[in-house]
Amino acid sequence: METPGNSFEQSARAISRMMGLIFVMFLLVGGFLVYLMIDPTLSAFQSEPEPTLIAVAPPEEDDFDKIENGIHLRTGFVEGEGLMTVVNNCTNCHSAKLVTQNRMDADGWRKTIKWMQETQNLWDLGKNEDIIVDYLAMYYAPGKKGRRQNLTNIEWYDLEE
Ligand code: HEC
Repeated sequence: METPGNSFEQSARAISRMMGLIFVMFLLVGGFLVYLMIDPTLSAFQSEPEPTLIAVAPPEEDDFDKIENGIHLRTGFVEGEGLMTVVNNCTNCHSAKLVTQNRMDADGWRKTIKWMQETQNLWDLGKNEDIIVDYLAMYYAPGKKGRRQNLTNIEWYDLEE
């Protein structure tokens, strides 16, 4: 049989064990609350979402520098070697038309470029100057007027009064 003393000792031990348990619970809950203050969304426990693959529509055809029938559509320049150098250097300040409506030989084009450099703040073209002058003298030379070559092999007939 248990003595009353023993039973008292037992319940005291039970209570102290309970207190210990409650204390541990407090520590756990308290720790968790402190952690929540630092990381409220518990992000440390969430795995990164898988990156979803988004189907990207193929880019629309870039026709900024489209060439059709031998003509650079955006500027009207004739297709040829040096075209893009001319487009990049000669359409910044004025319309390409100012260039394409002119006809000069190499010397004339060089003088025009020099004139623009001296009076219109055109930059030093460096090695591109030869490319540009060659292109212009080739496609915008004095003899070449208009959009088509002169007709040949025409059978003329005399008008009779
Ligand atoms: C820094 C600006 C600038 C650039 C770049 C430029 N020009 Fe000019 N250009 C001018 C100005 C300004 C005029 C005069 C425009 C006007 O009279 O309305 C001019 C006029 C012209 C003329 C007409 C000249 C005349 O006698 O009427 C031609 C041709 C010409 N430029 C060709 C070119 C060529 C070829 C290039 C490329 C190498 C070029 N330009 C690049 C500024 C520029």
